[in-house]
Amino acid sequence: MKKADIGLVGLAVMGENLVMNMESKGFTVAVYNRTTEKVANFVEGRAKGRNIIGAYSLGELVDSLKKPRKIMMMVKAGQAVDSLIDQLLPYLEDGDILIDGGNSHFPDTIRRTAYVESKGLLYIGTGVSGGEEGALKGPSMMPGGSPAAWPYVRSIFQAICAKVEDGSPCCDWVGENGAGHFVKMVHNGIEYGDMQLICEAYQLMRDGLGLTSAEMHDVFSSWNETELDSYLIEITRDILGYQDEKGETVVERILDTAGQKGTGKWTGIAALDEGVPLTLIGEAVFARCLSAMKDERVAASKVFPHSVPAFTGDKKAFIESIRKALYASKIISYAQGYTLMRTAAKTYGWNLNYGGIALMWRGGCIIRSVFLGKIKEAYDKNPELENLLLDEYFAQSIKGLVPAWREVAAYAVSTGIPMPAFTAALSYFDGYTSENLPANLLQAQRDYFGAHTYERTDAPRGQFFHTNWTGHGGNTTANTYQV
Ligand code: 2AM
Repeated sequence: MKKADIGLVGLAVMGENLVMNMESKGFTVAVYNRTTEKVANFVEGRAKGRNIIGAYSLGELVDSLKKPRKIMMMVKAGQAVDSLIDQLLPYLEDGDILIDGGNSHFPDTIRRTAYVESKGLLYIGTGVSGGEEGALKGPSMMPGGSPAAWPYVRSIFQAICAKVEDGSPCCDWVGENGAGHFVKMVHNGIEYGDMQLICEAYQLMRDGLGLTSAEMHDVFSSWNETELDSYLIEITRDILGYQDEKGETVVERILDTAGQKGTGKWTGIAALDEGVPLTLIGEAVFARCLSAMKDERVAASKVFPHSVPAFTGDKKAFIESIRKALYASKIISYAQGYTLMRTAAKTYGWNLNYGGIALMWRGGCIIRSVFLGKIKEAYDKNPELENLLLDEYFAQSIKGLVPAWREVAAYAVSTGIPMPAFTAALSYFDGYTSENLPANLLQAQRDYFGAHTYERTDAPRGQFFHTNWTGHGGNTTANTYQV
């Protein structure tokens, strides 16, 4: 019997769709699922007549594969992946490749890469983005792990992934061990930020300008013809235009409590661990948390009733200002996300290709946009770019956007419309571009109560001073002993 090019374990929707996608590109795929009825159902159903081989045990799956064997695991993230690896190892040989295509947390992928490599095999942890439809028609894929595995899976991954207009694949090697899952996690964090920004613009137009959903549908339609051209603006346009059988706009009937699965939180935690100000994504995660406190919000709104004053200015002009403010904030979010990747790359020893990452996100995934093409250009021009804001194109763009950005933020603050992501982005911009921040006072406070010492503006960096602020307490500093 003909051997399969790749095996896949885990026939839930994503797994099945990836199999169909691979088969449609000319690969023969062997499949296995713990609950083996799913194998039978799939092979007799959707997969009937195709180059898809059903396996009813892991041994049978392994036997049906060409060497070096490639097995993609599409099972629930967490313990299931560890247990599946341990079940597969006894059947495999040196050089075989295990691939985790689930939403694993990157520290797990770092650990698993080392473990699987210690057994003489190769490991890949790959981000797969684009949901069910992406899995079937072309996802964005972000593989990392054992570099020696890449040449063996490259042709399959680059065949099934999304492509941009010029045909470039939205999949390339990201880096060692957990780099692929890390980049996928940052992708999800950025997705949180993009969604929150759109939601804040929506609230400002709805509550501040009194626009109807139909009017906002038109606004988002026109925004999609600008620098904001993206999948999330597109679906927002469609959502605002969507009516049920009774002619009611569905979005207006949806309860305002957001759910989350935790990848935004992971991104925020990674940023705190790395000491990177990822303020916009952080606010986006907290905005979901705040929205989920519905009952408390309802009660608090009775204690602090407030109404938004009617807008009296030029609506059309203000809508354009909102668009500009959204674009500026979005640039900040990506600048912060890229800074996180650069910093983590140093910590974990990854050699990340930043332009390549923008290209992987350019198509197939939820944050796909025209804007990512500009980010790719910026990093292609200067792979060492310290902050996206310092790229000439983005620096010029932001300069043109600042007045509208301030106008919108000021309006929101003065009328009481919460815009945590827009305003956090602006505060970051103002902080990042300030030569002087008030941290001199902060250092004085730390030195006052904890003798933490400070550096001086009139002495070389690296020289530390302590002041005896109260006149008592001596000259001992926190640096002279380890606590
Ligand atoms: P199941 O159909 O047997 O539940 C998504 O949950 C996919 O992950 C399903 O294909 C599911 O298989 C699989 N899965 C979840 N936990 C698993 C485990 N511990 N071992 C193997 N597959 C698992």
